[in-house]
Amino acid sequence: MTLPKHVKIVEVGPRDGLQNEKADVDLDTKVELVERLADAGFANVEAASFVSPKWVPQMASSSEVMARIRRRPGTIYSALTPNMKGLEGAIAARVDEVVVFTAVTEAFTQRNTNCSIAESIARAAPVVRAAKDAGLRTRVALSTTMGCPYEGVPPVSAVVDVLERVADLGCDEFDIADTIGVGTPTRVVEVMEACARVVPVDRISAHFHDTYGMAVANVHAALQVGVSIVHSSVAGLGGCPYAKGATGNVATEDVLFLLHGLGIETGVDLDAVVDVGQWISAKLGRRCESRVGNALAAKRAAARGETTGEACAA
Ligand code: HMG
Ligand code: MG
Repeated sequence: MTLPKHVKIVEVGPRDGLQNEKADVDLDTKVELVERLADAGFANVEAASFVSPKWVPQMASSSEVMARIRRRPGTIYSALTPNMKGLEGAIAARVDEVVVFTAVTEAFTQRNTNCSIAESIARAAPVVRAAKDAGLRTRVALSTTMGCPYEGVPPVSAVVDVLERVADLGCDEFDIADTIGVGTPTRVVEVMEACARVVPVDRISAHFHDTYGMAVANVHAALQVGVSIVHSSVAGLGGCPYAKGATGNVATEDVLFLLHGLGIETGVDLDAVVDVGQWISAKLGRRCESRVGNALAAKRAAARGETTGEACAA
């Protein structure tokens, strides 16, 4: 299969990234992160999450973030909404797109949303209907498609089964997630091909965490199946609070370097994202997890005659 000419990147750092930060991230930093990412050219930024603040305290300021951000025309601002209460918050905050979520394994669904897969889908149905009535775009995320921290690797038939059960909700996009970053390209091709027999491939997105360092290879594998929507997180921020040990999403800088190297358009300015990645990592006091981000930052520093301790790419 020929690779797509254009890929839409959904930048999930402000949600999937920050939701996992233990220390409180101040509102100014959250707002600046969303604004700088939108300015870098992303067509879609996952900016907020209207979930229980008892479950994910870091996202409790989502309404304030949405109220404060300067909105860039052309950028879709998304938020997670597990139930009607979440949707009400999202509508009040004027988000453009809402994300309902379930998983392929029962144990993860219980730990993440305190209910069974069937209950999570039943909860999602009225949320999607009401969101569409309100004129919002909708997505549904399927966690643990490549592996589950509690149940191991689910059969591909289990992914297909859950996808078939959510296919009729009427969502615009289907996020196929490797929650704990254990997938490898062969599995990704198998899962994506099976998913593409259930829903149109141009509505499937690859949402891959990078725990085992396979995520860039896995994105490449998904592109070969025809997937043209990729989720990533600036500086590789993040993890899942309900998947212990799982690290962040594939780093946006790494995905951009891959895509641009393949001659695929994204509309996103890699240099600007490198700046954001270095800035947010310093703000959070953590190492930037993007190999590309660190290499390009080191190269720039070397050009200015500074030494950074990072290996400098030629
Ligand atoms: P529950 O405790 O079963 O819900 O949680 P409940 O309906 O019994 O409500 C309990 C309390 O939460 C009540 O407050 C509600 O008002 C409140 P109280 O009366 O005790 O003061 N509440 C809410 N507050 C704000 N916003 C809401 C909301 N709903 C209830 N929307 C629930 C069920 C789903 C709410 C909870 O389990 C939850 O919030 N889970 C979210 C967990 C989460 O955010 N996980 C991370 C995101 S998913 C992810 O990262 C995976 C993804 O990236 C893909 C991948 O990588 O796999 C998408
Ligand atoms: Mg995730």
